[in-house]
Amino acid sequence: MNRTETGQGLANVIEYIANGMAFEPDSYNESYLDRRISARMRRTDCEEYAEYLQLLSSSDDERAALLDALSINVTSFFRNPPVWERLRDVLADLTASGGTVRCWSAACADGREPYSIAMLARDDPNIRDRSLEITATDIDAEILKTARDGKYESTRTTDIGEQLKPLSAPKEHVDIDADARSFAVHDRVKRMVSFEQHDLISGTPKRGYDLVLCRNLLIYIDSSYKTPIFETLTAAVDAGGFLTIGKSETLPRSIREEYDAYDRSNHIYRRE
Ligand SMILES: C[S@@+](CC[C@H](N)C(=O)[O-])C[C@H]1O[C@@H](n2cnc3c(N)ncnc32)[C@H](O)[C@@H]1O
Repeated sequence: MNRTETGQGLANVIEYIANGMAFEPDSYNESYLDRRISARMRRTDCEEYAEYLQLLSSSDDERAALLDALSINVTSFFRNPPVWERLRDVLADLTASGGTVRCWSAACADGREPYSIAMLARDDPNIRDRSLEITATDIDAEILKTARDGKYESTRTTDIGEQLKPLSAPKEHVDIDADARSFAVHDRVKRMVSFEQHDLISGTPKRGYDLVLCRNLLIYIDSSYKTPIFETLTAAVDAGGFLTIGKSETLPRSIREEYDAYDRSNHIYRRE
């Protein structure tokens, strides 16, 4: 296949997804979409996009498998632990005065990020957990059901016990079954987090947060949508408040001047 045929073949699959499936590819970058589509092509032994398109349009199972492959909800408790060591300091400082501190975990996936904030606050004596109000949002209604449920399983590739290591006493915050594979977040931790469905591109603006986390979404997003998302996030952070983005994400130039780098290497910024 030459480059033009590849480009057209991929464009046809993306157009099919846009018109025929419950996924809007427009806001995602093409290389991300291509990686996921190509992975499904390898699994189904399709060598060409046209062949895959035929399979896609004739098979409910393949449409479901592609939808699953396209959803980007990989997450973990305390993802990138060094960032959480700095967030520990941020939360201790923010809660020191005893006033209400509002946190927003934007694009929270299955809830492990906002529950990490809540558990850290309960675990660390320097953070006043009672001062915290945590809002957690995601575009995906299904994943929010898992988040509200607060039950997680270790798998061959995911060790939840390992993920909870930043806590001094994990059993104070989650029930762990006898073989240490199933974890259920305690109700008192769950009560600290309000989940709601929200689209960072077209959703209603939010205001008045002291700490906003938006991590590991922007890497998948088409560059034309990044600035509007950053504008939404920046409007939500109060002066003196903090924004944290993912380890492989960067602030666009137009937004950078709104912030001081609180911890450049851990991508934590303070709003001026
Ligand atoms: C890779 S997960 C990141 C989870 C968590 N923040 C972390 O760093 O581990 C990306 C999440 O972004 C959500 N998402 C995708 N597009 C979105 C949008 N336009 N608005 C809000 N959430 C979105 C997905 O549903 C997914 O759960």
